[in-house]
Amino acid sequence: MRGAAGLTAAGFLACGLVLMSSAAVAQTPLPGPAPEELRNIQRHGPWSQPVPRDPSNRVSGNAEAIALGRALFFDPRLSPSADLSCATCHLPERALTDGRDRARGGGAAKPRLDRNTPGLWNVGHGRWFGWDGGSDSLWSFALRPILHPDEMGASAAHVARLLRGDANLACRYANAFGRAVPPEAAAESALVDAAKALAAYLETLVSGASAFDELREALARGDATAAARYPDDARRGLALFAGKGQCSICHFGPNFSNGEFHNIGMPHMVEPGRVDPGRHGGIRRVRADKYNLLGAFSDDATRASGSRTLHLAQNHGNYGQFKVPSLRNVELTAPYMHDGRLATLREVVRHYSELNVDRLHQDGEALLKPLRLSDAESEDLVAFLRTLTSRSFPDLNPAPGPCERRGA
Ligand code: HEC
Ligand code: HEC
Repeated sequence: MRGAAGLTAAGFLACGLVLMSSAAVAQTPLPGPAPEELRNIQRHGPWSQPVPRDPSNRVSGNAEAIALGRALFFDPRLSPSADLSCATCHLPERALTDGRDRARGGGAAKPRLDRNTPGLWNVGHGRWFGWDGGSDSLWSFALRPILHPDEMGASAAHVARLLRGDANLACRYANAFGRAVPPEAAAESALVDAAKALAAYLETLVSGASAFDELREALARGDATAAARYPDDARRGLALFAGKGQCSICHFGPNFSNGEFHNIGMPHMVEPGRVDPGRHGGIRRVRADKYNLLGAFSDDATRASGSRTLHLAQNHGNYGQFKVPSLRNVELTAPYMHDGRLATLREVVRHYSELNVDRLHQDGEALLKPLRLSDAESEDLVAFLRTLTSRSFPDLNPAPGPCERRGA
């Protein structure tokens, strides 16, 4: 058994080496995945990667802003009824999801929201935020749950008062932004700053390497022994993922998402008579958003970061498209899809296997076809997805040191 696994891994490895140095010559055809699949594997790394600074957020990467953002993330006082923090829905022990199909809002009514709560690990590697991409920056997204009447339902004045009234928050604010919390009349800028601090915190949520990353690294450095440690079922699943399954076309790159929007034939009825328009609505929303990257609140004086927003165009195909989610740590974030309608990874794989092509009315999705996987192949694909779970996560909420006002 061990020998067979080793042999296949060696085949794997030899192909990898051919890719990396064109000088290598394979005399006989080697067993294992095709060169194209191996190229795909290498494209899913390296990992982990820090999130690049956000030019639209002047406190991106600022340690004091990160500390402020962390404090706000866990603080239920952000909601006026003090019953909802970001962490109420993005629970640390559930990989920053809530385990529900669709989220529950705040206040007495606790309304059922339209969408599933996504995990926030590695969220900073995204390019559009929300399942419909209705926000073009992390900080502008963070304003949504704060202001939305079904979620926290807070106002700018409420957030400014919270920052001003708490010595620790006020101190972090002053250190991060180099000024005292603005007065009532300028509450909106305090609100946007709070969102920018939250975004600076979210950018630090990068999870560690997974068994898949260890395999990828082993292949890259030519370590057959380490490569052989990767389980056989997951290796077959990986071949499906990167090969005939064509999953990596959309679940592309180190974070397993191309950052774009696709229609994969999921129903998008929210309730009888009401549909979730997906990306179609997201484009409308981001263009109308006064907090978008083209607006006055972006700190990017060049406005270069807003060029994608500037060039957004609606077309009918956007209807029913949703963001391609990252698959890192997907094992931990059930249930799945924008409305959480699939309970397990096995159900997700069944969706792709049995795909209802009639629902795929849009042009660009011609690459999706029912995969008709056997039970064993489906199990292999699930086994592969489970190897995307990070072996380590940074501490989400370390005890903060006392805040000392700088330059005061
Ligand atoms: C009531 C539950 C709830 C609360 C409270 C909440 N969220 Fe969320 N979060 C969600 C849901 C649901 C979505 C998906 C929204 C959508 O697609 O429209 C989401 C999406 C996100 C995203 C986008 C993720 C992505 O991959 O695109 C970010 C970032 C985020 N939340 C951050 C926050 C922050 C910061 C707070 C606190 C200010 C917060 N959330 C409070 C439920 C919640
Ligand atoms: C055409 C692009 C595309 C291809 C190809 C594709 N996916 Fe997806 N995937 C998506 C989109 C878009 C979603 C979210 C759809 C929604 O929420 O309605 C998604 C969702 C998922 C989810 C749920 C993740 C979550 O957090 O909810 C998993 C798991 C997944 N895909 C795995 C796969 C696998 C395995 C394959 C190959 C068999 C595959 N995908 C092929 C675009 C694609």
